[in-house]
Amino acid sequence: MVLVANILEVKGVSKRFGGVVALQDVSLSVPSQGIVGLIGPNGSGKTTLFNVVTGFYVPDKGEVWFNDGNRSERIDGLNPNEVFAKGIVRTFQIPRLFKSLTVLENLLVTPFAQKGENPLKALKPSSWIEEERALARKAVSLLRRFGLLEYANVRVSELSGAHIKLLETIRGLMTPAKLFLLDEPAAGVEAGAAHELFRLVRELRSEGYTFLIVEHRIEILMQYVDYVYVLHNGQLLAEGKPEEVTSNPKVVEAYIGGGSA
Ligand SMILES: Nc1ncnc2c1ncn2[C@@H]1O[C@H](COP(=O)(O)OP(=O)(O)OP(=O)(O)O)[C@@H](O)[C@H]1O
Ligand SMILES: [Mg+2]
Repeated sequence: MVLVANILEVKGVSKRFGGVVALQDVSLSVPSQGIVGLIGPNGSGKTTLFNVVTGFYVPDKGEVWFNDGNRSERIDGLNPNEVFAKGIVRTFQIPRLFKSLTVLENLLVTPFAQKGENPLKALKPSSWIEEERALARKAVSLLRRFGLLEYANVRVSELSGAHIKLLETIRGLMTPAKLFLLDEPAAGVEAGAAHELFRLVRELRSEGYTFLIVEHRIEILMQYVDYVYVLHNGQLLAEGKPEEVTSNPKVVEAYIGGGSA
């Protein structure tokens, strides 16, 4: 048997906001090069979990561990920049893009510790021109893969909502991260493009990336994930392979009684 290391481990995490218990004793793990789904009705705590893992919130209880392939490290309590530097990137449910910049420009301003931004190196363009060229090549290649190349020079303010969602995902992929947390990447994206997005996620997995994906388009997501966790009212309600989870009466009940899917 091949032992697969977990790139991410969330252990007994709780988080409350005043009287609202957003997460209660939640544990989950994501194997390296896995594609793991995180589902649950509205308000069940999915985005809060992403916020805890990526340093936007400090958990009240529990631990978050990240294994970059060399060693396991506790990351709860680090700030978002420190978490990003470890190799974790997340996309936002509501994309955070520069609306007055073009699609291509948005990809080129993604933070990756660009050498040109170091004031000393900025004086010596030869040290960063090649890096900038490589980033531009990567941006163009990703835009081509996601079918957005024809929009490269279009301002984000002129894009459709679906294209903005795709661009948010592509922006995450511009970084050198190993673990991607995608918050509803297919929201508002028509079915064909959503499938294409998840096919690309599969391809990227074979290139060494790992994904934890929040998505309400369950019928689509389930075709691409290896394993699924279900949150309900801040607690883990079920986990398992997609077919196990979708046929679990508790999960069906949560979706019918606890919010829209
Ligand atoms: N910063 C905050 N302050 C107060 N309450 C919050 C905050 N963030 C989240 N909550 C509450 O925590 C609970 C979980 O919210 P969260 O956004 O994590 O849900 P979600 O599963 O992502 O929902 P959705 O599917 O609608 O995006 C909700 O009751 C929400 O109102
Ligand atoms: Mg959310």
